[in-house]
Amino acid sequence: MRRGRGPVRASGIVALAAAGVLGCAADLAGLARAASNQPPIDGAKAWQTECGACHMAYPPQLLPERSWRKLMLGLANHFDEDASLDAATAGAVAGFLGSHAADSVNGDPEFLRGLKPTDTPLRITDTPIWRAIHRRLLTPGVGTGPGIRTAANCTTCHRAGGGLEDD
Ligand code: HEC
Ligand code: HEC
Repeated sequence: MRRGRGPVRASGIVALAAAGVLGCAADLAGLARAASNQPPIDGAKAWQTECGACHMAYPPQLLPERSWRKLMLGLANHFDEDASLDAATAGAVAGFLGSHAADSVNGDPEFLRGLKPTDTPLRITDTPIWRAIHRRLLTPGVGTGPGIRTAANCTTCHRAGGGLEDD
C-alpha cells in the first residue's frame, strides 16, 4: 500500500515504471487499485468464494502459516487442478489465511500438535492431530462431492458451518 506516502511527484507512468523496477507485483496491484479508486479486496470473502468453489473452504486454523503459503504458491497445480487466482486476489486470500493460521494470533495451537517445525503438510488430513481425531473413522472411499473422493470432503460428516451432521 502506498497511501499516506505524501504527494506523488512523478507522473503516473514514471511511478508505475519505478514500481516495475522494484519488481513488486503487489505494489503494482496497489497502484492500479489506487488509480481506479477500487476498494481493497476483502481476503475473508475472497477465501470463502474462491477456496469454497470446489470443496468446503477449509478453516485456516487447521494448518500452520507455512502450509498455507506453500499452497498459495502452488495454485496452478493444486492437487491436479488449476486453482489459479489473479495476483491481487491471491494476495488478499493469502493474507487472510496467514493471519488466521494455527500458529497465528487468531489460530489454535492445538492443531500444531505432533507437527515438527520443518513439517509443511499440504493436507489437513495429513496432520497428526486430524488423523488422531479421525483414526477410527478413516475408511477408503469416504466423500461424495464431484472430484472430492477422500476424507477431504469434510461435509460428508460435518456441516459446512463446522458442526457434525448428527449433532
Ligand atoms: C478447481 C478446484 C479447486 C479450487 C478452486 C480449490 N481447490 Fe483445494 N483442492 C481441490 C482438490 C481436487 C483437492 C483434493 C481433494 C481430495 O483429495 O479429495 C483439494 C485439496 C485441498 C486441500 C487439502 C485437503 C486435505 O486435507 O486433504 C487444501 C488445504 C486446499 N485444497 C486448499 C485450497 C485453498 C486454500 C483454495 C483457495 C485458494 C483452494 N483449495 C481452491 C480443488 C480445488
Ligand atoms: C467420515 C466422517 C468425517 C469426515 C470425512 C471428517 N470428519 Fe471431522 N470428525 C468426525 C467425527 C465423527 C468427529 C468427532 C470425533 C470424536 O469426537 O471422537 C470429528 C471431529 C473433528 C474435529 C474436532 C472438533 C469437532 O468438531 O468435534 C475437527 C476440527 C474436524 N473433525 C475437522 C474435520 C475436517 C477439517 C475434515 C475435512 C478435512 C473432517 N473433519 C472430515 C467425522 C468426520
